[in-house]
Amino acid sequence: MAKILITGGLGYIGSHTAVALIEKGHTPVVVDNLSNTRIDVLEGIEKITGVRPEFHQLDLAIATDVAYLFRTHNDLDGIIHFAAYKAVGESVAEPLKYYNNNLTSLIYLLQEIAKGQRDIPFIFSSSCTVYGQAKDLPITEVAPVVPAESPYGNTKQIGEEIIKDAVAANGIKAIALRYFNPIGAHESAAIGELPLGVPQNLIPFVTQTAAGIREQLSIFGNDYPTRDGTAIRDYIHVVDLAEAHIIAVERLLAQENELPFEVFNLGTGEGSTVLEVVEAFERVSGMKLNYRFAPRRPGDVIAAYADTKKVNEKLGWKAKRSLDASLASAWAWQQRLGKD
Ligand code: UD1
Repeated sequence: MAKILITGGLGYIGSHTAVALIEKGHTPVVVDNLSNTRIDVLEGIEKITGVRPEFHQLDLAIATDVAYLFRTHNDLDGIIHFAAYKAVGESVAEPLKYYNNNLTSLIYLLQEIAKGQRDIPFIFSSSCTVYGQAKDLPITEVAPVVPAESPYGNTKQIGEEIIKDAVAANGIKAIALRYFNPIGAHESAAIGELPLGVPQNLIPFVTQTAAGIREQLSIFGNDYPTRDGTAIRDYIHVVDLAEAHIIAVERLLAQENELPFEVFNLGTGEGSTVLEVVEAFERVSGMKLNYRFAPRRPGDVIAAYADTKKVNEKLGWKAKRSLDASLASAWAWQQRLGKD
């Protein structure tokens, strides 16, 4: 049983990871600055697991908050670092806010590890956005990292570089997990994604349209060179994704890692077009979705889906939940939100 710090632990992926940690018998210490979530996510975690995790409202981009956290917690066995801003459009408008928040917090955490317990596992929340439009599909971890389309994407690339250098120089051990498109919610509908304002991502826009909060979904581009003209992504259930973090941290704890810094794709390995997602949603919800075709969204790639061989073999992890199950859980969560 390990004590694991989860930064951004009340966020979308962080909260599902807190649940997965508790279910595997570990003890999460949750830190969040509540900038993009709500304190009552703690109740959701407690409702599912029966455990109310230790929680601290701290901002990891503030040096004194980080110092306080490590001064009061010298018994951490691992860190899973989610805390970051993640809105692509906002990052273009406010790049310095993104670089400051996402990179400062990462550096402070690594500095604490470097000066204290160097072998404490560090898991970093990265993104398939580092591959841009990959030449070869499915995308393997050795595909080249290309210049980022947005400051948000750049913080993930630079974040990986910072970790790589800190691992080489400071004896830290780390795993970066490159997520494809996380969707869905816990089966209980007690926790899920809390989009603020108009959702930028496909699934929250779909569920809000079905719920009558948005009038119509715009499908960005139907002239892509794909089987139906709409863009292809690899949509992965957030609970599958959360479980991979526990396996990653356990790998480092057991010193089963082959290199001090490893990178894994987290996806299903299956690509779905936007139209296939819409059809699947209509099937699981029994509703017709109001949508139209709109021009392509700048910065979008045509197709991205994961080669999962490395993560299957080395982490022994494979996504278990189907697209239909993911969408059904997203819809259940949306209906639950509607009642709040
Ligand atoms: C986006 C980000 C990516 C980030 C990820 C986090 C961009 C360009 N990329 O990925 O950097 O890591 O979110 O979850 O923003 N779509 C519509 N209508 C909509 C919304 C989306 O047709 O209203 C389409 C998009 O064009 C895309 C697909 O749905 O083809 C998925 O979009 P989205 O959920 O925003 O994810 P990504 O763009 O893949």
